Amino acid sequence: MGYHDSGYLVPMSPNLEKTRASINQDLKFDPLSSTYEADNDLKRAQIARTFISDTMTVPTTEMYAYGVHGTLGDAVYYEPSTIALEAHVAKITGKEDGLFMPTGTMSNQIGLRTHLTQPPYTIVCDHRAHIYTYELSGVAFHSGAQLIPVPPQNGHHLTVDDVSRSVVQGSDVHFAPTQVISLENTLNGTIFPQYDIVPISEFARSLGIKMHLDGARLWHVAAETGMSLKELCDPFDSVSLCFSKGLGAPVGSILLGTKEYITKARRVRKLFGGGMRQTGILAASVAYALTHHFPLLPRVHILARKLEKGLQDIGVTILSGAETCMVFYDATSIGTTYDEIAEKGLQLPSPLFLGGSRLVVHIQTTEAVIDDFLELVAGIAKERKKAGFVKAEMNGVGQYRDVYVHRHWSISKSK
Ligand SMILES: Cc1ncc(COP(=O)(O)O)c(C=O)c1O
Repeated sequence: MGYHDSGYLVPMSPNLEKTRASINQDLKFDPLSSTYEADNDLKRAQIARTFISDTMTVPTTEMYAYGVHGTLGDAVYYEPSTIALEAHVAKITGKEDGLFMPTGTMSNQIGLRTHLTQPPYTIVCDHRAHIYTYELSGVAFHSGAQLIPVPPQNGHHLTVDDVSRSVVQGSDVHFAPTQVISLENTLNGTIFPQYDIVPISEFARSLGIKMHLDGARLWHVAAETGMSLKELCDPFDSVSLCFSKGLGAPVGSILLGTKEYITKARRVRKLFGGGMRQTGILAASVAYALTHHFPLLPRVHILARKLEKGLQDIGVTILSGAETCMVFYDATSIGTTYDEIAEKGLQLPSPLFLGGSRLVVHIQTTEAVIDDFLELVAGIAKERKKAGFVKAEMNGVGQYRDVYVHRHWSISKSK
């Protein structure tokens, strides 16, 4: 044992250079195979044949080439490309400021946590909302809030009638007042009409309730309707947008709101352990996605409609149609199961990668892949018909989310 330079008694190896070299040897790690280029090309080809999720889109070589020019700041202090991205997206959405986030889940959770400071309180949302179904009861954990999940009466989206009957107000001490209404657009790929969002926002503002938007795929609404992002975001106090889904960036979301709100959210993000460092490469990749990938979305929607029409022509029941990039279908309507379709898809010479009832079309989907999938389903339908299958009346409308959950996880885990 020897003395370290600090003067403290620290055990030091008697053979320092040799042991350092040995640790160095242990640490060495090269996960890239010698065939990484071919491997990545294969991955890109597989993504083009994947209907599971648009989160699986992969960075193109062009995006990577642009991304490496990102600035080299530390985002907890000052990272120029990231600050520029936050300011840019704040400007196009008509908000005062923005905050780059690692994920959409963190963006929603911090967005809500920043509004909610003194329990008891409740948040009203759609019963299919991501914050209710896929965020692990995060608002209960992080904010001590209870969600009030509301099924829309029209089966498509919430209206002011749904919301006003669900918010908690008044002085009765038994009930936790509603402090936030959280909407999602798109929701399962469907567009929330602005004419029903605006009255909800006016109602919320009349009661001092905050409006949050989970706009993970709001880009699709702008691309499909031609409405500006500013107009789509105006009814909301806070908005979360994702870059890593339809836009195809590798990582990242953004939370938007007033300067005061984002200043608070920046502190909450650090508290959550989300203060990131050299994010310049990510911000630059997002800039590439905004510039080059947003214009691809109308084509994605055309392909999704082709997919829906093709399935209808085969006799498949559509559970939720292609308003943007998703189609939900019922495999039982042609006498088969999602598992059978997925397994047969995997056995094709060029495999198809499928989840459950949800089919997601994305910027890396090719038209040929839509044709291959339709051919596969048509083949199965024909086989079943020959074997005597007769289509029964559907009674499972509204259950597709559950089917999707089950199958989606089992297939993505096995890949
Ligand atoms: C509507 C919606 N909101 C939020 C998220 C969460 O995003 P992330 O997976 O980046 O946490 C998702 C993920 O797919 C989503 O679909």
